[in-house]
Amino acid sequence: MRDDPTPATTYRTPVESNRPVTGPWSLPEKIDTGRRSAHAQGVDAAQGVDAAHAHGSARGPAVVADGLVKRFGEFTAVDGVSFEVPAGTVLGLLGPNGAGKTTTVNMLATLLLPDGGSARIAGYDVVSQRSEVRKSIMLTGQFAALDESLTGRENLVLFGRLLGLDKAAARRRAEELLEAFNLTEAATRRVGKFSGGMRRRIDIACGLVVRPEVVFLDEPTTGLDPRSRQDVWNIVTSLRDLGITTLLTTQYLEEADLLSDNIVVIDRGRVIAEGTADELKDRVSGTFCEVVPSYPDDLVKIEELLADLAPKGELRINPTRTALTVPATDGTTTLVEIVRRLDAASIALTDVGLRRPSLDDVFLKLTDRTAGEATDLAASDQSGPSDQDRADLAFRPDPGAAR
Ligand SMILES: Nc1ncnc2c1ncn2[C@@H]1O[C@H](COP(=O)(O)OP(=O)(O)O)[C@@H](O)[C@H]1O
Ligand SMILES: [Mg+2]
Repeated sequence: MRDDPTPATTYRTPVESNRPVTGPWSLPEKIDTGRRSAHAQGVDAAQGVDAAHAHGSARGPAVVADGLVKRFGEFTAVDGVSFEVPAGTVLGLLGPNGAGKTTTVNMLATLLLPDGGSARIAGYDVVSQRSEVRKSIMLTGQFAALDESLTGRENLVLFGRLLGLDKAAARRRAEELLEAFNLTEAATRRVGKFSGGMRRRIDIACGLVVRPEVVFLDEPTTGLDPRSRQDVWNIVTSLRDLGITTLLTTQYLEEADLLSDNIVVIDRGRVIAEGTADELKDRVSGTFCEVVPSYPDDLVKIEELLADLAPKGELRINPTRTALTVPATDGTTTLVEIVRRLDAASIALTDVGLRRPSLDDVFLKLTDRTAGEATDLAASDQSGPSDQDRADLAFRPDPGAAR
């Protein structure tokens, strides 16, 4: 990056290469976050070379961003972003394209100098203690960039060697990671032949050759098919089991919901909401049921038939008078009740189903609260969940609806 002061030679930005950051790592000492599962501890013990700085847990939160600002010329891309990530937890940094997620991550990962505010990783200042920060983190970008002509195992051994392990230790570590990331079968295959999900797994595994304190995953599932996406989700879960603090950026509410202990929503460089997935959901409309009658003239009758299912005013006919929505307070039970009543009244339906609020809905609602900011967002989307959002939600059963 242009204003990156003195980049170490072995250190690559996610733009040049999305290889995990391989700064001049040193082998750090043992860490105990107190949150590891029995399985994770077993893996740890076997790893031998595994360890990290003890600062994260000893000195409080693993990540502290305090009023971070980044300007590109006249444009302020990050405008006073503050949040904390307790050691051993997963933070989802959620925001639409251009919100400032990558810029924020790059400041935290010392790839960009902040124009204002400060940040600490594992207790180290991202400006005055850059090399300590770099030894404490792992960063992957949106695409893995490994040596395509080498096998998965060879890539891992190479990483271990680059990071100062001797041959035997590097090999041992490679085997452990291949097993931990379910890549043993792919070990002898060239990385160039890997599927998207396998690539992402080997990329992340390379970043874990030496255990980092904090892992940054910048939109790790963007552009992946549903199965590979699931692979990445499993990795994030494993990281949490290992007690590694993870900052994950995503454009998908459901992904942040599924993987994060806490969510920070950013839009136009500002934090607009923060909380657990449940807290955020409480702030936006919950699941609703959408009824599309075959004959729009039936809408008024449907409204009467379902009137008692929701408080007055929460049963809505859409502006084009083609559909009606009802809050699905009891999830599928509400849906079943609606279908039962309409069937009993012999009303023909084109479509009926449960809908979750889309990311657009969440942003609309949240930005409503920041005066004057919501106007163009509100103008650009009155249509409810997009097909893409619905497709995104289709990857897994909706836990909200089941509650
Ligand atoms: N190097 C740069 N020069 C100028 N503008 C930039 C640069 N990097 C990012 N931006 C702008 O800053 C905003 C935030 O970008 P980014 O952090 O990449 O968002 P996100 O990762 O949330 O999609 C965008 O409007 C983007 O165009
Ligand atoms: Mg980005």
